[in-house]
Formats: sequence, C-alpha cells, structure tokens
Amino acid sequence: MSDAAPRFVWVDGAVRPAEGTHLSVFDRGFQLGDGIFETLRAKGGRTTELAEHTERLRRSADGLAIQLPDGIEAQLAQGIADLLAAEGLDGPDGDASVRITCSRGPWTSRGLLPPASEHLVATVVIQAWPVTPPPAAWLEHGLSLVASAVRRDPGNPIVTLKTTSRADYVYAKLEARRAGADDAVFLTMSGHLSESTTANIFLVRTAPDGVVELATPALECAILPGTTRSWLLRWAASAGLRPVEGWLTPDELAAAGEAFVCSSVAGVLPVTRFNGHPIGAGVPGPWTLRARADRDAIFGA
Ligand SMILES: Cc1ncc(COP(=O)(O)O)c(C=O)c1O
Repeated sequence: MSDAAPRFVWVDGAVRPAEGTHLSVFDRGFQLGDGIFETLRAKGGRTTELAEHTERLRRSADGLAIQLPDGIEAQLAQGIADLLAAEGLDGPDGDASVRITCSRGPWTSRGLLPPASEHLVATVVIQAWPVTPPPAAWLEHGLSLVASAVRRDPGNPIVTLKTTSRADYVYAKLEARRAGADDAVFLTMSGHLSESTTANIFLVRTAPDGVVELATPALECAILPGTTRSWLLRWAASAGLRPVEGWLTPDELAAAGEAFVCSSVAGVLPVTRFNGHPIGAGVPGPWTLRARADRDAIFGA
C-alpha cells in the first residue's frame, strides 16, 4: 500500500506547499528522534476522537518534558480543518489519515540534554493522506503475524509514549517482511504479548465458565494505551462479551478462537495466523467482523 503524496503540510500555524524546506537540520526530532506524534482519522472533514488523541499527545509531551505551544488543542483543530480543506479531503466523501508530529524544536548545540534555561517550544506539523482501504486479502483472509525478536520492557517509562523514536518498530516491520508475514508482535521481557508495530491486539476465547471473553494485554504490558482499544473494551461489554485485560501468552493467542488488531486509521483487522500457524479456524471470526462493522458504523467505514 502506498499513499497518494500530499500537496500541502501544516507547519507551526500555516498551511504550506508540501514541497520545500520546512524544518531546520538542527531540529531535535530529526537529529535524535526527540519528538512525539499522533495519528487519527478524519471522515467527511470530522476528526475521530480528537480529544483522546490530543490528551495522549499531552501525556507523551509531559513524559519527555516537551513544551507544547499554548492553546495547542484549538490550534490543532483549526490546523487540521485548514489542511483538510487545502487537500480537498473535507467534503462528505473525504477520508483522511491525519498525523500530528511535535518535535522538541531546533537546537544548535550538540548533545542529548535539552537546554534547561532556554524556552524551546515544540515544532508542530500536521500531515494528511487520503485513507487507502486495507488490501481485500487482509479482510477476507486475515493478517499473518510473527513474534518480533525485539522485547518490550514494561518497566521502561518511555515504552508507552508515542515518540518519534521508532527504530524498534521499523526493525520489527522488517522482520515481518523477511518472514513473509504482514506484521510483527512485540513480546514483553517475560514473554507475554504486548502489541503489534502499529496496533493493539485482542483475542476472543471461551472461558472455562462458558463466557466468551474479549481479551487484550493490560496497560502494564508495555503497550500504547490505544484509543481504539479503549473503545473496544467498552464495546465488548455492550456486545455481550466479557472484556479482559491481562498478561496473555503467545500460546493463548495461538489457541484463541479468533484474534484481531486495532488502530484509529485501520480500524479492526482480523489476524488469522501467528508464527506460521492458523488461529482458530484460520479465517476472520464473527466477533472480529462485528467489531469492525460496529466501529465503522459509528466512525465511518
Ligand atoms: C504501537 C501502537 N500501538 C497501538 C496503536 C493503536 O492506537 P490507536 O487506537 O489510538 O490508534 C498504535 C497506533 O498508531 C500504535 O502505533
């Protein structure tokens, strides 16, 4: 899947042509991955769960002591609206993947430690791409996942922040490609499931008491607290599934009736193979398809 090239970007308050130089080479985001980001969807010009994404952006900024500009919430709402209008993605058929990136900003001195005395305000960038639907094969046959060799440490305070330092994630994607899989799943240091490279993971199983459970790794399992994950845990209760957050093993994933991954832009995507073996019947399961349809019905297919 390759997205159409955007014609515009929004940088620090203004829509500008995408072509051109917008950032300093001294920008710490470029030099050090010293930045944070969010990705969300905008259907028909309306953003999905912007408040949740802005709150998570703030949490990531606080975690790295990155100073966001005053009034960032209003700026982002206006900036996204302006950019979608410039890209022609604000009409009733508009469907955009919106990325907000904030780097700590440019700093001409060497070294890791950001200045304590100077007041560095983050560089804020917004980009928008038309959403490309997932490949038909992913929806028909499901994704195949492999376990990454990269382990996640639940004790690492950075691991739950959405930072632009994504080398681990890129590495895991490359591992998946080499293995002929669609994506990779990170395991924690203790070998429990964490998340995939761009999504949270869920499995559906029948508990010993006969109740059907929707289970997902707990927040303590070195995951990003996904907005779609939160929605699905609320959805489960209303759909008649027992939501469970806990420490799940790869064996539990392999033995599940069905599994899926979820994120803001891709929504719910079935997972039918793990480390080369089928999960459940090896086809997208009914709960997975219902979760996808129910979320699409609310936030747009
Ligand atoms: C590593 C990771 N986990 C989970 C998610 C899902 O988060 P959300 O549902 O808020 O999009 C993402 C989304 O980009 C992600 O990058």
